[in-house]
Amino acid sequence: MALAEFLQQLDDLASAAEQAFGSADDAESVEAARVEYLGAKQGRVKAVQKQMGGIDSTDRRAAGMRFNEVKQRVEAAFQAATERLASGGPRVQRGPHFDPTLPGTPVRSGRLHPITQTIEELKDIMGRLGFSAAEGPEIEDEWHNFEALNIPREHPARDPLDNFYLSAAEKLAGDSPLLLRSQTSTVQIRVMESTPPPVRIISLGRVYRPDTADATHYPMFHQMEGLLIDRHVTMADLKSVLRLFATSYLGGDVHIRFRPSFFPFTEPSVEVDYHWNDQWIEFGGAGMVDPNVLRAVGYDPEQVIGFAFGLGVERLCMRRHRITDIREFYKNDVRFLHQF
Ligand code: PHE
Repeated sequence: MALAEFLQQLDDLASAAEQAFGSADDAESVEAARVEYLGAKQGRVKAVQKQMGGIDSTDRRAAGMRFNEVKQRVEAAFQAATERLASGGPRVQRGPHFDPTLPGTPVRSGRLHPITQTIEELKDIMGRLGFSAAEGPEIEDEWHNFEALNIPREHPARDPLDNFYLSAAEKLAGDSPLLLRSQTSTVQIRVMESTPPPVRIISLGRVYRPDTADATHYPMFHQMEGLLIDRHVTMADLKSVLRLFATSYLGGDVHIRFRPSFFPFTEPSVEVDYHWNDQWIEFGGAGMVDPNVLRAVGYDPEQVIGFAFGLGVERLCMRRHRITDIREFYKNDVRFLHQF
């Protein structure tokens, strides 16, 4: 027999065997295929092997090598079919078993802290009103936290018991005492010291006060401070900005009201409330920047005027999401944090 014809027979045998073992789906059909192809006496592999005697002796070596390859392929197909049946079978198991009916392992994705999310949103809203975000240090000197804000030395707000002063060892030698800032108003001083008017900024960040933690107090919280300085600025502008802000953050048409108040750095000063869910809720403090503050940073109060406001970020976020205890924010309990 010619070599080419023999090789063709081998190829046909290999693909027919692979087809038979590949489609065998129970033990009987695997066994039937085994007998047909690998049977010791009548098997087709055996039959082809017998024909090798008729091959020209010069071609016999090549024919023998191809025959061995094909025989291995057929045996491998048989082996694969046996394993496939065993792993799909009800009791016999080899290797890891995949059960597609079991519930999957949930993938937990991380997310931003609710306060971080709130801060991003506040920046976005105020950004649309033309206010850019400014930052300042959390460790401050008395000039930026008090003096420049028109809070003189004898003012009760400077009481060491109401502030986190750093110990003598921590402050720089010879410098004024340092403290953790008690308000973000420090940033308005820093910005005005380094920029000529007009100014239109917000500063968002942590502030520290030695309050005992309870449902509405925490020794660290976040404030948003707004500052606008220009030539002709009025309380009406302040009210418009705050109302637009409240409406954007809380949704719907939010009404706000001013109550007379006092802050050393604003004159006149107001407490701001907003009307939400049939209640007047405290929003924060605000007012027209005191001329003493403008002078402290080198501005001319005859030339420029402005407003400032400050509000608590936690309180806003709590209102929006009906959170009743500020301490939840800082417990790091994922069951709480995962809801936002
Ligand atoms: N800094 C004030 C506070 O911490 C809030 C405030 C800011 C009031 C700006 C008026 C103007 O309570």
